[in-house]
Amino acid sequence: MPPFKSILITGGAGFVGANLSVSFKRAYADVRVTAVDNLKRRGGELNLPRLRRYGVDFLHGDIRCPEDVDAWPQYDLLIDCSAEPSVQAGLHESPLPLLQNNLVGTIHCLESARRREAAFLFLSTSRVYPIERLNALPWREEATRFVWTAENNPPGLSAAGVAEEFPLEGARSLYGATKLSAELLIQEFAYSHGMPALINRCGILTGPRQMGKVDQGVVTLWVARHLFRRGLRYIGYGGRGKQVRDMLHVDDLFDLLVLQLEKPADWRGRIYNVGGGWRISSSLQELTELCRAATGNTVPIESVPETSPVDLRIYVTDSRRVENAYGWRPHRTVPQIVDDIVGWVRRHEDDLRPIIA
Ligand SMILES: NC(=O)c1ccc[n+]([C@@H]2O[C@H](COP(=O)([O-])OP(=O)(O)OC[C@H]3O[C@@H](n4cnc5c(N)ncnc54)[C@H](O)[C@@H]3O)[C@@H](O)[C@H]2O)c1
Repeated sequence: MPPFKSILITGGAGFVGANLSVSFKRAYADVRVTAVDNLKRRGGELNLPRLRRYGVDFLHGDIRCPEDVDAWPQYDLLIDCSAEPSVQAGLHESPLPLLQNNLVGTIHCLESARRREAAFLFLSTSRVYPIERLNALPWREEATRFVWTAENNPPGLSAAGVAEEFPLEGARSLYGATKLSAELLIQEFAYSHGMPALINRCGILTGPRQMGKVDQGVVTLWVARHLFRRGLRYIGYGGRGKQVRDMLHVDDLFDLLVLQLEKPADWRGRIYNVGGGWRISSSLQELTELCRAATGNTVPIESVPETSPVDLRIYVTDSRRVENAYGWRPHRTVPQIVDDIVGWVRRHEDDLRPIIA
């Protein structure tokens, strides 16, 4: 049982927020869980009946708006899951909305938690690590994926993947910059105000209820396009779908949070890399094969060789620090993740078709 009586989850109608809200309520019926969301992300509204069914209070509100934030009920833990989560955000349009949302909005959340003497748990991203440094790591091409070659590894890189010590100098995308800036402020609040604060730098998070789209939520996008028999594109690095990411099922993230919530006194603004590692990783080509097997459908896949300036050839998380600290290990494999998403989309096909097809 965590030492918290009431949890407020911003972005609580979104993919991570809605899953965590329900999981907390199912695990701890006596804990009050409030989900706050401005319902900006399309499809979030589909999560509202489920939140209600499990006894999660839903509050429509915007973290950018101080009046909305002031109206939140009392809570003793804030889990910040509200963000514009696309790495493409601000790239082809003004970055101001992204900065307002991910930076100013997060500052409002932090200040709200400070005033209420609450703890703060932040979902950061592996995108804080610089793009050019990651893409400059030596790699080789295998039949279905790129892999890093373990030669002259810089600090923070080992055969296990990218650890917290990986150097931070260099551009990381505007999205990654908002998250890194937020991390710095969270650590200052932890230091200056004694706020129990914890930062999990997550790689790709995935699972049911993610409203996947071209620029965010790749696993759901891939599954949905197969189920609805719609075409896909391998974009970048020669257009052959060999880019690799590790991934983490949102239920594995929940299992970690349960362990982390037990001891907020230990948090002290600590940062952990959190992901599935090589064991739970896939290239796009491999994901295609899994989606074909799980859905029985083959869809046309176009090749676009040009690479986006914010894309990465390979990203795999070294989660050993968090694994050692909490005795946690992710369990759901990539085929299980795909099956889980297939099951969810099939159960809600009519509702989901206009959103993720
Ligand atoms: N999904 C991933 O792969 C991933 C990986 C690493 C980190 N994260 C982080 O996890 C968090 C949750 O991501 P997600 O995948 O659930 O994204 P999501 O888009 O599914 O959910 C975010 C929710 O926040 C809401 N929101 C956005 N701006 C808001 C605002 N101003 N006020 C109130 N609500 C607002 C949206 O409507 C949406 O429901 C984000 O902070 C994201 O950066 C996600």
